[in-house]
Amino acid sequence: MSQAIKIKSLSKSFGAIDAVCNISFDVGYGEVLGFLGPNGAGKSTTMKMITGFLEPTSGTVEVNGHDVLEDPLSVKRSIGYLPEGAPAYGEMTVKSFLNFIADIRELSGSLRKNRLDEVIETINIGTVIDQSIETLSKGYKRRVGLAQAILHDPDILIMDEPTDGLDPNQKHEVRNLIKKMAEKKAIIISTHILEEVDAVCSRAIIISSGKLLFDGTPEQLISKSDQGNIDHAFRNITVPSK
Ligand SMILES: Nc1ncnc2c1ncn2[C@@H]1O[C@H](COP(=O)(O)OP(=O)(O)O)[C@@H](O)[C@H]1O
Ligand SMILES: [Mg+2]
Repeated sequence: MSQAIKIKSLSKSFGAIDAVCNISFDVGYGEVLGFLGPNGAGKSTTMKMITGFLEPTSGTVEVNGHDVLEDPLSVKRSIGYLPEGAPAYGEMTVKSFLNFIADIRELSGSLRKNRLDEVIETINIGTVIDQSIETLSKGYKRRVGLAQAILHDPDILIMDEPTDGLDPNQKHEVRNLIKKMAEKKAIIISTHILEEVDAVCSRAIIISSGKLLFDGTPEQLISKSDQGNIDHAFRNITVPSK
């Protein structure tokens, strides 16, 4: 399995807050890595450093062999990123927003048309294509966020809480989509829903207070619980002195 992302000794401090402390891990193609941790653990900060939106205090991130600080454009080309809360321009229609993203991604001609058609169908947003984004339900807004992340068919997908706030059917749909895309890509999702790890991830990393506490398969994670229960295992790891 070839490596898509290599993270070495990554740290980020905001003043006195050590948001991410000396984290190292690699992600390979074919993997869906679940990023777990309580609120404020440093998940979003780590994702922002991988995608080049935030400069690390120290440490390195390589994406397909390109250093994120030395070659940010190559890194951004190979990554699709769904930031926390799926931000978009509310006054734009779905169609104009996706065309704007297609411009930024320099998609043209038949490739552009094919990608737009395919994404609109896969993400199932054809019925709201002429609606302004601010008038969409939370579920549809999230879908538009997913659509912009995958429009250029990136090798690597970084999704910050992609199912947060969705209803159970929508969660199920997004998980299926992730599983469908997983084979050829390297995917990182953050979540605080532990069942999601079992449902879609081939590997799980737990961080808490910026520190990496666990890196293994969902089965290895569950085996940390004598009750065979993923929630119990997570508590054992994040709150060890009970
Ligand atoms: N821009 C910022 N300025 C100051 N502190 C920040 C900033 N971004 C995040 N933090 C702090 O860094 C820590 C990690 O935050 P975050 O990465 O958002 O955690 P998570 O995504 O796991 O909930 C938190 O203590 C948060 O308050
Ligand atoms: Mg977060």
